Amino acid sequence: MKTILGLVASARRMGNCETIIKAVCRGIRQEHRLKLLRLTDFDIKPCRACYMCLFEDKNCPIDDDLEQILDAIGTADAIILACPAYFLAPHSSLKRFVDRGLSFYSRAGQLWEKPALGIGVAGIKHMEGHTLLGIENFLKVLLAKVKAVEMFYGALPGEILLEEGNLQKAHELGRALFGPLPQPAQPSCPVCGGTTFRFLDHGRVRCMLCSNNGKIDFSDGKVGFDMQQSPRVLFLNRAKALEHKQWLIGMKNDFALKKKALIKAAGQYRQDGTWIKPKEKKISE
Ligand SMILES: Cc1cc2nc3c(=O)[nH]c(=O)nc-3n(C[C@H](O)[C@H](O)[C@H](O)COP(=O)(O)O)c2cc1C
Repeated sequence: MKTILGLVASARRMGNCETIIKAVCRGIRQEHRLKLLRLTDFDIKPCRACYMCLFEDKNCPIDDDLEQILDAIGTADAIILACPAYFLAPHSSLKRFVDRGLSFYSRAGQLWEKPALGIGVAGIKHMEGHTLLGIENFLKVLLAKVKAVEMFYGALPGEILLEEGNLQKAHELGRALFGPLPQPAQPSCPVCGGTTFRFLDHGRVRCMLCSNNGKIDFSDGKVGFDMQQSPRVLFLNRAKALEHKQWLIGMKNDFALKKKALIKAAGQYRQDGTWIKPKEKKISE
């Protein structure tokens, strides 16, 4: 029996994200149980950049729900993430979680290549902005094996089910979860499979998912990419991901060596400006 974890990145109960995950699961051929986790129900605090979680004998000092979510992901056989578009971008609960990604390295064994689907939901057709990029980023930083990433459209809660063809599309996604990796349907980065690019000078492009640079090529009437892989790789293979962790640990040591010079250089700016602090909250009876 497979355990599927549905990660809902929307606070709306019985909304489109929740419903589409359930519909996708009905297409899964393997015997399975569906567990659901609403990211917005959990307390995920901002990363403090202390790098403690990188060290074997230390843990993240932040007292919140990160470990509980990582346990749920780590023990699932596959994950389905559904996230709404908010202001042409993914819901903030994705970024809040991904920003704690330095803690994922210590769980690389559990997380590596977990089959995953990413689903974006937007209320207006083609008004998702960079929602899918945020979803791909979330799944890649989580070291998952991304089987498919798709957009669905519907504004009212459950409205995506009213559009003809969506249910079939959902069931096909369900079948893809434990199936072979499909061929890319659109021009994509040959390094990471990303489909979002920034145009640079001299016909060069940068993939917004893996951040590698390359050339765009329009020969044969098709769009192609010739990308150069940088030596610094965050998630493309397990060894490289762990190499990046070691590099970060080295940076922590580098900081100890350069600390005096850094304090001297930046210290002269310490007193500039005045800080606006949050008002104290009144505690109601
Ligand atoms: C604050 C807010 C911002 C939104 N921004 C967008 C947007 O930029 N583009 C879009 O197509 N839909 C936008 N929507 C609509 C939602 O993406 C849409 O209703 C979606 O179905 C919500 O998923 P849910 O039902 O799982 O919450 C926005 C909704 C809210 C509440």
